[in-house]
Amino acid sequence: MSETAVLHIDGGTFELPILRGSENEVAVDISKLRQEAGVITMDPGYGNTGSCRSAITFIDGERGVLRYRGIPIEQLAERSNFLEAAWLLMYSRLPTREELDEFTTHITYHTMVHEDVKRFFAGFPKDAHPMAITGAVVGALATFYPDSMEVSNDREMEIATHRLIAKVPTIAACSYKHSIGQPFMHPINRLDYAANFLHMMFATPAEDYEVDPLLARTMDLILLLHADHEQNCSASTVRMVGSSRANLFSAVSAGVHALWGPLHGGANQAVIEMLGQIRDSGDDGKAFLQKVKDKQTGVRLMGFGHRVYKNFDPRATILKKACFEVLERLKLDNPLLDIAVQLEEVALADEYFIERKLYPNVDFYSGIILQAIGVPVPMFPTLFTIGRLPGWIAQWSEMIHDPDTKIARPRQVYVGETERRYVPIEERPG
Ligand code: CMC
Repeated sequence: MSETAVLHIDGGTFELPILRGSENEVAVDISKLRQEAGVITMDPGYGNTGSCRSAITFIDGERGVLRYRGIPIEQLAERSNFLEAAWLLMYSRLPTREELDEFTTHITYHTMVHEDVKRFFAGFPKDAHPMAITGAVVGALATFYPDSMEVSNDREMEIATHRLIAKVPTIAACSYKHSIGQPFMHPINRLDYAANFLHMMFATPAEDYEVDPLLARTMDLILLLHADHEQNCSASTVRMVGSSRANLFSAVSAGVHALWGPLHGGANQAVIEMLGQIRDSGDDGKAFLQKVKDKQTGVRLMGFGHRVYKNFDPRATILKKACFEVLERLKLDNPLLDIAVQLEEVALADEYFIERKLYPNVDFYSGIILQAIGVPVPMFPTLFTIGRLPGWIAQWSEMIHDPDTKIARPRQVYVGETERRYVPIEERPG
């Protein structure tokens, strides 16, 4: 293939460089197009726009491939754990035992939050959504760590990243405890990362609480599967906010809020709500799918479809298997799982979904597992937040160290009024 693309426009001819990724992805570099040809490109939702060069995560949506730093997600799910995957994403290779131990110690050391942070929670209404609280409190961490404001100070920023990975589970658990009026539980640093989170969520000072190792392992798997997903809405938000050189806590807080949306990290909550509605209406899912296919209703099959995966989402395959294992081991019979399986089967055989290449995504089964673990539905996107943190951090760090980074500032095609005169109020038609 030629190394330039040629664009003919308004009688002019322009050569545009071609960029190639390590997996042979090809991009046309249009960064000088406006300067040279006076035109911009248009791509609402950025579905066809590369915003950066990245060496973190590779997805081949046509083949259902997801790799962190080159390692297939299936291998990581089978053999690794969340903190090791976090290290891999942040430091670009697998850690040695010493490196992993040191990292784990750092994360463990930072799990407590400043006592004054806990006072914020009292100001939030009892029914405040945990994502609203988590986003707000993560942003407020900037007020506690003024040393971490200078984004070019690598050592300070590394400490800030460890603080975030350590403290966000504590903040998330506090947001839950606040909503049910229970005292906050201190982290117990002899527990591993996922077990500690379950302890802070479900233990009370009044009773002994044993973390079930299967549930801790499953929670760890869910976090690992969510750890990065290249330039998705929240990662792009973190990069965009960070491109202004705003501090890391502000950038990550923005990422939390972006993730909250029902089309992104809020989808796992939306899936459970959808399955619950189907169950309550006595439908086996078929009537609901008719509604989905009728565009007038605006109803979507939540947990289905993906901007990038047009074959299958490998995370959904892993989670579906884990879902059956957990429910079987806990001897739980969740009718929502039966509805989900039935919906999946019918949808995958239906022309509407086949034509549009819509498959179950990571959220289709994760909610059912989280429910089995006992996580309340409004906490689902918060779990996704904890999982996605290493990815946001890796993306942010790559952006900060990339010499090509500029403040993110898209253009627009203006379609409003052309110039017109200011009319004083007394002259305006009534
Ligand atoms: N149910 C019904 N129709 C759908 C769905 C769905 N879940 N998803 C896409 N479509 C249709 C859509 O109506 C459109 O049809 P047409 O071509 O006739 O207009 C076509 O498929 C293409 O959809 P799109 O909205 O252009 O696709 P997108 O790439 O912009 O959207 C998506 C991707 C994930 C936002 C979308 O598939 C969706 O809304 N899914 C449901 C929400 C969900 O599960 N989100 C979690 C995503 S995975 C976790 C994450 O990364 O955050």
